[in-house]
Amino acid sequence: MSELKPRKDLLDIESLSLEEIEYVLENAVPFKQLFQRSVKKVPTLRGKTVLNLFYEPSTRTSSSFEVAANRMSADVTNFTVSASSIVKGESLLDTIETLQAMRSDYIVIRHKAAGVPGIVAQHTRASVLNAGDGYHAHPTQALLDAMTFREVYPDFAGRKVAIVGDILHSRVARSTSTLFHKLGIEVGVLGPGSLIPEGRHDFMTRFRTWDEVFDWGPDAVYLLRVQMERQEGQFFPSIAEYHKMYGMNSDRLVRMRELGAYLMHPGPVNRGVEVTDEAMGYEKSLISTQVENGIAVRMAVLHWLKPETQKD
Ligand code: CP
Repeated sequence: MSELKPRKDLLDIESLSLEEIEYVLENAVPFKQLFQRSVKKVPTLRGKTVLNLFYEPSTRTSSSFEVAANRMSADVTNFTVSASSIVKGESLLDTIETLQAMRSDYIVIRHKAAGVPGIVAQHTRASVLNAGDGYHAHPTQALLDAMTFREVYPDFAGRKVAIVGDILHSRVARSTSTLFHKLGIEVGVLGPGSLIPEGRHDFMTRFRTWDEVFDWGPDAVYLLRVQMERQEGQFFPSIAEYHKMYGMNSDRLVRMRELGAYLMHPGPVNRGVEVTDEAMGYEKSLISTQVENGIAVRMAVLHWLKPETQKD
């Protein structure tokens, strides 16, 4: 594997250089090859501890980090927020101080408030990995999306990806679009006007209809979940209306097949909202590959980051 100056934390995509992005994506490849072996473990993080701290629900990200850390022979602790002193009113900083005393090497954190992983990073010697904070960032999701897209399109520069759905509330949209843009991939967006932020990313082409998207000729369509839990107020008339206007249905699958476009989704999927059962069985869906690549990318990130605890 190639070498690069290590960094302590991974908090967002914006602060990553192209060299760092390439480093992680390249190093994820041999980790993925490991999954084909009968023994999928390497000793890279033997004796190191990884703490999974999820203040918001997660299936893919939390289990993916756990599998990644286990495959690197780290000791993993899953900290259950609902069963912790946090529900008794303990402050974030007091929790961090407690965790710091445990001398964890890596803290993987998801929180509903943007910026919390950054605060934790400032107050601990452990490496902090942002597993999603509010609307702000989900950097490992973006990296696994880039790895997945590059596997099917080794000539990825100049290719086109349409992101469809709730862009406003999506940390995935923010991180993945930023990373794709850095890699020279064109990004377009489609969704209800109320869920498309004005002026957030000037580099993205704005579409009003699926016809406009398909006429643009996307190489992949990236569907997003409507994040009801983050919406205060009504952003579109009804779920049925949303599905009709923006969901991936039979007619749109016909256009996808004509274009040879791939389908991506970060999960969790809401069938009947952004996607039909039929579309979930689309032969060019990359959704399972995204999950598999998530483990490889997170192994590559854990391999790269260097906690200050390792100076001891
Ligand atoms: N993609 C993603 O973040 O999924 P989870 O919410 O299940 O972790």
